[in-house]
Amino acid sequence: MVADGPVWAVVVAAGSGERYGAPKQYERLGDRRVLDWSLAAARSVADGVVLVVSPGRGADPEPGADAVVVGGDTRSESVRAGLSAVPDDAAIVVVHDAARPVATPALFAAVVAAVRSGADGALPGVPVVDTVKRHADGVVVETLDRAALVAVQTPQAFRAAALRSAHAAGGEATDDGALVESAGGRVVVVPGEPANVKLTTPADLDRLAASL
Ligand code: CTP
Ligand code: MG
Repeated sequence: MVADGPVWAVVVAAGSGERYGAPKQYERLGDRRVLDWSLAAARSVADGVVLVVSPGRGADPEPGADAVVVGGDTRSESVRAGLSAVPDDAAIVVVHDAARPVATPALFAAVVAAVRSGADGALPGVPVVDTVKRHADGVVVETLDRAALVAVQTPQAFRAAALRSAHAAGGEATDDGALVESAGGRVVVVPGEPANVKLTTPADLDRLAASL
């Protein structure tokens, strides 16, 4: 099915930043806040942008967003809150972590293009440099084939109907690709950007500032 029609972005910014020690998406990076970079990059491909914020902030208007909604206790719940504000005529929805401020407009364009070409979903993946093992209670069960692995990022683009139906069951996952895959969707990998790190700890802020 070819996705032809408006593109909307959902930028999730409702996390509490436990590992960072503060709601990291509001930290200053260069001349603006972390989330402002994320909103601007999303805007480069989107006809509309929904920002999802934590309940404590209230849904006050934000420059750079067409709608602001309150998120939930988990990332998946926050995405669902964002989706509820995406108009029915959206053909493609791009989900992006506010905490990934240096994803480029070219990366947004690449995931959207892959969905326009027929995939149910597209996500950026970068090669894994470490050997990855699966363990149970500290005992190695399996060594995975590194060549077949990618570490995935956002933005992740989806055919809007595929994303909505994958979320309809209310599942939980650390990314949206996982829900669309489990629902039987065909999710493709596009080359990710090594610089596109997710702000997770304070040390990441320096790395991100260096790559601006
Ligand atoms: N997020 C969200 N709603 C949640 C949890 C996370 O919108 N209930 C968002 C975060 O704001 C972030 C993105 O999802 O932009 C990725 O989440 P993560 O990096 O885990 O951020 P936090 O959950 O805020 O950080 P931590 O896990 O350290 O608390
Ligand atoms: Mg989290």
